Amino acid sequence: MGAVTFLKRMAGLDRQEAPGSGTFDHAKAQEYEWRNNAVVIRDHFPEVYSAVEADRAAGGLWYRAEHQFFEGDEALYADFVARVRDRKCLEVGSGPFGFLPPLSWIKNRIVIEPLADKYRAAQLEQLGKTFFTDDLKVYATNAEALLPELVATIDGAIICRNALDHCEDALTILHNLSRYAKAGCYFLLWTDIWHLDGHDDGHHNITKSPEILDALLSGLGFDVIKNIKPVRESGYLEYGCVALKR
Ligand SMILES: C[S@@+](CC[C@H](N)C(=O)[O-])C[C@H]1O[C@@H](n2cnc3c(N)ncnc32)[C@H](O)[C@@H]1O
Repeated sequence: MGAVTFLKRMAGLDRQEAPGSGTFDHAKAQEYEWRNNAVVIRDHFPEVYSAVEADRAAGGLWYRAEHQFFEGDEALYADFVARVRDRKCLEVGSGPFGFLPPLSWIKNRIVIEPLADKYRAAQLEQLGKTFFTDDLKVYATNAEALLPELVATIDGAIICRNALDHCEDALTILHNLSRYAKAGCYFLLWTDIWHLDGHDDGHHNITKSPEILDALLSGLGFDVIKNIKPVRESGYLEYGCVALKR
């Protein structure tokens, strides 16, 4: 046996893992995602769509200062609204409703969501309406693939909410997002970073350390201006922040 083979065997590097034995399988995760979100659309889309329309008719912006990220900070929310209204904004992993798709008052919206075409088709079939309208630029791809046309173009906001732990390579996505963001661009990030009771097919763990994410974002050129409160009380470690690109 050669020296390299021996060393590999000693380190356990020559073992073949059985498929699905604890590794994250993104194709499987996306099947899980579609199964869950088809039910979410079936059960909630008509109600959410009418609520968004009613709010718009009453002059509302749908998202408000009391909601996640802003936590009641009216000044921060007002600054965000002023920043994003006429600038280019991007959401990654929007899911069927998302943050940007219902906010039609933002002029220039882009979504990277591999299941976007399926979400659109299901909504149109159910109600004849969809949040994935033609004025929304949609990339139905994985966010790990760099989109060169987006580099240094996003000057409004990037939103990534409850999606990073559903993707295969969270760090590559964060790197790509840092390349898309221009100086002054907001970054609203919220994700589970560890599933304390174990995770299912749709999720995976990223890190147990929120501090590492703060440091990573800083290294990628984002100033974290606030960390946000966790959504759940137990079972998960979460990370959330509002940051600004330097
Ligand atoms: C839990 S859902 C999103 C929830 C939504 N952001 C919200 O806050 O309501 C996670 C989404 O991430 C998407 N996703 C999974 N892998 C992805 C990837 N590699 N790139 C971009 N989006 C991905 C899934 O298709 C799914 O729609």
